[in-house]
Amino acid sequence: MGEKKILFPKIKGLLHGGDYNPEQWLDRPDILEEDIPMMKKAGINCVTLGVFSWSVCEPVEGEYHFDWLEKVMDDLYEAGIYTVLSTPSGARPAWLDEKYPEAMRVNKQGLRARHGVRHNHCMSSPIYREKAAAIDHALAKRFGKHPGLVLWHLSNEMGGECYCPLCVKKFQEYLWEKFDHDIEKLNHAWWTTFWSHRYNGFEQVEPPFANGEGSIMGLNLEWKRFTTRNTLDFMEGELAVLKEAAPGIPATTNFMMLYNGLDYREFAPRLDLVSWDCYPRFHNDGETFRDTMLDNAFQHGVMRSLKKGQPYLMMESAPGLVNWHPYNKLQRPGVHRLAGMQAVASGSDSVQYFQWRKSRGSFEQYHGAVVDHLGTDDTRIFQEAAGLGSLLKKLAPVSGTVVRARTALLFDWDNRWAIADSKALGEQSKKYERVCMDIWREFAGLGVEMDIVGSDSPLEDYDVVAAPMLYLLKPGVGKSLTEFTERGGQLLATYFTGYVDENLLCFLGGFPGEGLKELFGVVSEEIDTLYPSDRNSVRFEDGREWEVREYAERLRVSDARVLARYTADFYQGEPAVTCREAGKGRAYYVAARCAAASMRELFEELLKRAGIPLRPLPASVEYHVREGGGARYEFYLNHSEEAAAVKDVHGLELVGDRYVDGELTLGKYGVAVICRGSGLEQGPEEKGLEQGPEEKGLEQDPEEKGLEQGPEEKGLEQDPEEKGLEQCPEEKRLEQGSEEIKG
Ligand code: GAL
Repeated sequence: MGEKKILFPKIKGLLHGGDYNPEQWLDRPDILEEDIPMMKKAGINCVTLGVFSWSVCEPVEGEYHFDWLEKVMDDLYEAGIYTVLSTPSGARPAWLDEKYPEAMRVNKQGLRARHGVRHNHCMSSPIYREKAAAIDHALAKRFGKHPGLVLWHLSNEMGGECYCPLCVKKFQEYLWEKFDHDIEKLNHAWWTTFWSHRYNGFEQVEPPFANGEGSIMGLNLEWKRFTTRNTLDFMEGELAVLKEAAPGIPATTNFMMLYNGLDYREFAPRLDLVSWDCYPRFHNDGETFRDTMLDNAFQHGVMRSLKKGQPYLMMESAPGLVNWHPYNKLQRPGVHRLAGMQAVASGSDSVQYFQWRKSRGSFEQYHGAVVDHLGTDDTRIFQEAAGLGSLLKKLAPVSGTVVRARTALLFDWDNRWAIADSKALGEQSKKYERVCMDIWREFAGLGVEMDIVGSDSPLEDYDVVAAPMLYLLKPGVGKSLTEFTERGGQLLATYFTGYVDENLLCFLGGFPGEGLKELFGVVSEEIDTLYPSDRNSVRFEDGREWEVREYAERLRVSDARVLARYTADFYQGEPAVTCREAGKGRAYYVAARCAAASMRELFEELLKRAGIPLRPLPASVEYHVREGGGARYEFYLNHSEEAAAVKDVHGLELVGDRYVDGELTLGKYGVAVICRGSGLEQGPEEKGLEQGPEEKGLEQDPEEKGLEQGPEEKGLEQDPEEKGLEQCPEEKRLEQGSEEIKG
């Protein structure tokens, strides 16, 4: 089951918290006084401070005001609440923009922003970097050894592009490096002879301004890559300051769902842990609630796969509602707990919110919060948050365990960008992300965990790999997929695979390129884009048919078994689904777009061949397994308002404190966690981490000793409930007998 990877040895469990902005209430000590007692009631053990607090922390240039922050951190710590401390670089104070307008971003139209809103600084601006580094340094020096500090939160939801002259110059330098100082290499890679777009030097290359060059696909893609690189460079600048001034504190930055603007896979290795902000549109009228939940599960899957083998954090989520969806509908009762538990089930070691308390004015005054303008703890949302808080406390032993998968879906940001920008297929029907999500959801429906990794990620942990619409092939991917099947892997690819190389030049001599036409034993000769009302289907020898919509490739099959053929149109009877024995494994090619649900049997076949067991589940139930430290936790989440019964469940159910031996019944939006193994005892390696050198060091620091041994901490250690959990051998609880669980 592997070892546990405890992210925060001090916290002893899952994080429950969120963004806390006391700086908005400094003139209301009466309100600030209420916060901590209310947090305790809600089971909050961690808050995020400092996000967007620059103008309070440095009201005039070079004058830092941190006393308020220190008081808040001290008070929180005394109360057993830890701090995630953010650098304030997500939004600039007015004095900075007034004095250094070059810190403001230039948009695609070439217009410099004026002061205002947030996330709109130039990532290259030396003065902006300098000012951010200075306040980060001051923060790190002042708080780096604070015993309540557990994590740095870098900026906030980094994103966007800047087209200022500095960024343009940096882009040109980036290209100069990338193309070995040789403009002819760039000209070739971008095929610039087309439309007479050849460059004589790197200084002629401009990013894709709105009124400028937008027709060179290689340029557009490289600009995206550069923006990732430049943003990363900015983030690394902040990181370096913190790590140097306050060593030993881990760092993260909060990602935004499937944000398209940055390749998060480039960011993950630089961070100690991954975190993200999760805002599904619950109860919308365009999809079922289950659809919303499953798409959200996919996003959790992306995040947990960014740093495999360790938990991640759900850094933000909305208590009750957001204020920026097209319709800001209230989350129905029970959804708060269900969505929070979905995060934990998916491998998150936290449920954190935006935000603790609703702000009184300005842009987000109506965004959901644990504490409403009403200011009391008896609101529905507060109660739901508090209920989840107690449940998370109970599930403390889950922290540090991880989801492990033997199947993987290949999903690349480069490929997203390349497909979206390709002048091919149907404008509205490319839907790369949708196709990936649908396939992933089918595996989830079969009760199988599936990682979501890059096409160039190592594949040795996997026995089944799905690579839908892998249009762009990075160097080495063909080889890696071939090796994967050689050693026995089951591989599935689809139409629109392997058309272009990393510069978006088409492979010559037949798609898919990079050795994949040999691996699959097929060449794709043409791709037909169907109108929305067009239909075709593919028929298997046993008579099964899958409906085809939107795309159909015409294949030449050189060395593969034909499993299904088209039933209509001028390519009626031609191969549509093929399979080739490749080494010890198999390479399947599905040449047409068929609903993932109709392909389920094929997925089952792949899993069966790989010896991966399925977990039969009712249609509304989501299932995950977290493992580590000798324990295994099975999570069951019911997406339905109707009860659901899961068969063949055995073990101690932690939500209801009952033993289940047979059928598990989940009520409306019910959740259940079955524990197997020694999950309720404190594993040796967990103990080791708690007494790790860093912690020990802190304890020995005379200045901090007082705080380290603060009354609340001691209280936590002596908490009878916690103690009971740690000391209660699983067997004892198993004796409590078998009962059906009502979620
Ligand atoms: C996030 C952001 C928060 C807050 C929240 C509202 O994207 O990081 O600061 O604006 O959205 O949902």
